[in-house]
Amino acid sequence: MKDNFLVIGGTGKTGRRVSENLSKSGHNVRIAGRKTNPAFDWEDPDTYDAVLKDMDRAYIVYYPDLAVPGSREAINILTEKALKAGLEKVVLLSGKGEKEAEACEQIVADSGLNYTIVRASWFNQNFSEGAFLDFVISGNVALPMPGAEIPFVDADDIAEVVAKVLVDDSYNGETVTVTGPRKMTFREAVETIAAEIGKEINYQPISIEEFKDGMKAAGLPDSYVWLFGYLFEEVLGNPDNQEVSHDVQKVLGREAMDFRDYVAKTLTTGVWNQDVPVR
Ligand SMILES: NC(=O)c1ccc[n+]([C@@H]2O[C@H](COP(=O)([O-])OP(=O)(O)OC[C@H]3O[C@@H](n4cnc5c(N)ncnc54)[C@H](OP(=O)(O)O)[C@@H]3O)[C@@H](O)[C@H]2O)c1
Repeated sequence: MKDNFLVIGGTGKTGRRVSENLSKSGHNVRIAGRKTNPAFDWEDPDTYDAVLKDMDRAYIVYYPDLAVPGSREAINILTEKALKAGLEKVVLLSGKGEKEAEACEQIVADSGLNYTIVRASWFNQNFSEGAFLDFVISGNVALPMPGAEIPFVDADDIAEVVAKVLVDDSYNGETVTVTGPRKMTFREAVETIAAEIGKEINYQPISIEEFKDGMKAAGLPDSYVWLFGYLFEEVLGNPDNQEVSHDVQKVLGREAMDFRDYVAKTLTTGVWNQDVPVR
């Protein structure tokens, strides 16, 4: 089957990899973001129709997070327009353990489109392509929730799962939960990276309030400060959210990538050898 795939958030951590997977399988891929042509902006529903036109299936990455105010309205409008545009199926990226995101999952489930929900644990790539990269480079990773055991998942695994369930209709109506093969604390994650890089990186446990104060001092918008507080408190604060799932194995027929293997492959990119970023 050769389909036209829309990848919303196609320049991001998972979307870029999903696009690569689909292209490699010979599919047509349209990447959508604020700088693409046609451009797509979640904050401007007038941009939705142009990217949906002539598409068969779509991977939906909401930004910054399905838990933020405004996400339900946006997902509702997008799915209504997708149905009208004749799309057959969508896959929504959601966050494992995010109660607030479930309302958006339900909107997709009720949309009339075929769908699969992919609920992901925290990504390995937060340390190399996301919010924690600067900390790793600076040699001091100050994060709250030192007792949380997190089944970090690799973005390569998420993307392979997404690409598979997008084309395979046997997953229609299902929620697939993707995690890594084991749980680890922030300290263990940082120590694993430090050992592989061969330099000292300190893990400093701080309170959620201290973390939020740091974000405010760095000039980040209030909505981001709220979001990180929510993610640390609600997602990492609930032990039920910290379970390992075996859905990567079920969907791909192989084990999910271990954090150690993520570190080894990331080391070869040189991303952790940059100078300390100047803010
Ligand atoms: N990081 C984690 O540990 C984690 C865990 C579970 C779930 N998630 C979920 O993952 C999602 C983020 O996915 P990701 O990490 O693959 O993406 P990402 O690396 O954060 O990249 C964001 C993508 O969204 C686009 N984007 C940003 N603002 C936009 C806007 N206003 N309108 C349209 N596009 C916009 C960006 O492109 P442009 O900037 O060019 O527009 C980019 O392609 C969030 O929904 C988050 O809740 C993350």
